[in-house]
Amino acid sequence: MSKEINILNSNRTEVADAESLRQLDFIDKAKEYVSSLEKELGRKPRACVVTFGCQMNARDSEKLLAILKLVGYEETESEDAEFVIYNTCTVRDNADQRVYGRLGQCSNYKKKNPHMKIALCGCLIQEQSAVEKIQKSYRFVDLLFGTHNIYKFAELLCTCLESDRMIIDIWKDTDKIVEDLPVLRKYPFKSGVNIMFGCNNFCTYCIVPYVRGRERSRSPKDIIKECEKLAKDGVKEVMLLGQNVNSYGLDFKDDDPNRISFPQLMEEVCKVEGIERVRFMTPHPKDLSDELIEVIKRNPKIARHIHLPLQSGSTEILRRMNRKYTKDSYLALVDKIRRELPDVAITTDIIVGFPGETREDVDDTIDVVKKAAFDNAFTFIYSKRTGTPAASFENQVPEAEVKENFDRLLKVVQDTAREQAEKYTGNEEFVLVEGVNEHDRGLVTGRMSNNTLVHFPGDEEMIGSFVKVKLLECHGFYYMGQMV
Ligand code: SAH
Ligand code: SF4
Ligand code: F3S
Repeated sequence: MSKEINILNSNRTEVADAESLRQLDFIDKAKEYVSSLEKELGRKPRACVVTFGCQMNARDSEKLLAILKLVGYEETESEDAEFVIYNTCTVRDNADQRVYGRLGQCSNYKKKNPHMKIALCGCLIQEQSAVEKIQKSYRFVDLLFGTHNIYKFAELLCTCLESDRMIIDIWKDTDKIVEDLPVLRKYPFKSGVNIMFGCNNFCTYCIVPYVRGRERSRSPKDIIKECEKLAKDGVKEVMLLGQNVNSYGLDFKDDDPNRISFPQLMEEVCKVEGIERVRFMTPHPKDLSDELIEVIKRNPKIARHIHLPLQSGSTEILRRMNRKYTKDSYLALVDKIRRELPDVAITTDIIVGFPGETREDVDDTIDVVKKAAFDNAFTFIYSKRTGTPAASFENQVPEAEVKENFDRLLKVVQDTAREQAEKYTGNEEFVLVEGVNEHDRGLVTGRMSNNTLVHFPGDEEMIGSFVKVKLLECHGFYYMGQMV
């Protein structure tokens, strides 16, 4: 629950963007509908935001929730509510299936609650086939919109509250960035900050460029302004978000003063008073520069963690994935990072079962996992995404073979991660305390700069502060520690 956190950009004095000001008018209008609903119900109407997918979606949901709270809904985590919105993901088929499953269950609430409205937004809704399916089989949905016009949520909410029809507003692409939208963070002390939207890489398996559009960078000025606002509001850690942060700024013209590189941007963010830790996600291995390594080296505020998606260790599969690096160049990059930044944890994403992948290709991936000694890896089974080039590649790998390769890989990933984790035992590290441990109220949980979780005796008062902790025992993926 996001209780004591301020909603930023909720009044006109804080907002400069003309479109955001326009949306504030719609918030005022929606307030009237919601307040008459409140009178009818004899209590505040409730709203629930359900989020699937990555950090970008999580950040978008913070904007949706801010608007729902501003117009007068009470936040709830249950879908038994007057307004439910699903912010969807479509990166793999199981993400789609989870959305449809939840939506089916939600219809039962709607049968009992005549005031209920159901909305869907996000990546899945950018797909024509999904919209058709919802129009045909989920007639009870009230509002559908995509990723490019999410800034219009207040306006669409008004239309939806006024109407009994299914409202659909989906754009193919956009070159627009709307600044200063209201936002209600999930955590008081940390926040995501979008630095760019979209992706131009077109990895052949990936749907993201089709549903998020082309790369658009925010101006450095707007990013810094947002970080300053967040710092003033108590945020200590920011995570700079983009599908490929290394291409930040490349969409600005050569002579545009906004055209600074991602490492330069990070240095600027590090200068913001009050921001004590800076994370970033995701850098593409094909263009992680020496400049970035240098900047990380000289800025202790930058987290000691690089998430460097490998996808495959086979040069041939990487070529067919359009990743633009090879097994050897990836390993050379990891070597350079380990040499220059020995205290940095490296994590990765791996896909198993890409079309045409052989046992030998997976052996190559396993070899890279061993050599790179990843601190953690997220392993995914390849999921065919209609509309991507790989969906029509020949030699889709039989399920049983994929499963066997996946299990072989997972074992090595887990063994490597366990070995890596243990090496910090006895160290003293600064931990940003995130909350009280759910299983043992005498413990608090926080994260080290390299993202490792640490549990140690403490209390609620510590939440949001940096505490120096001695790492006593490693339990696989987390440490038990003690304050020093
Ligand atoms: N922009 C990031 C990743 C975004 S998607 C990058 O380039 O690394 C997050 C992860 O989902 C990817 O790293 C990839 O491992 C996985 N993924 C993407 N498309 C997939 C697909 N079709 N099947 C299985 N996994 C996929
Ligand atoms: Fe997808 Fe590749 Fe873009 Fe990442 S870089 S979002 S994997 S297309
Ligand atoms: Fe999913 Fe969209 Fe993120 S497809 S992974 S929510 S960019």
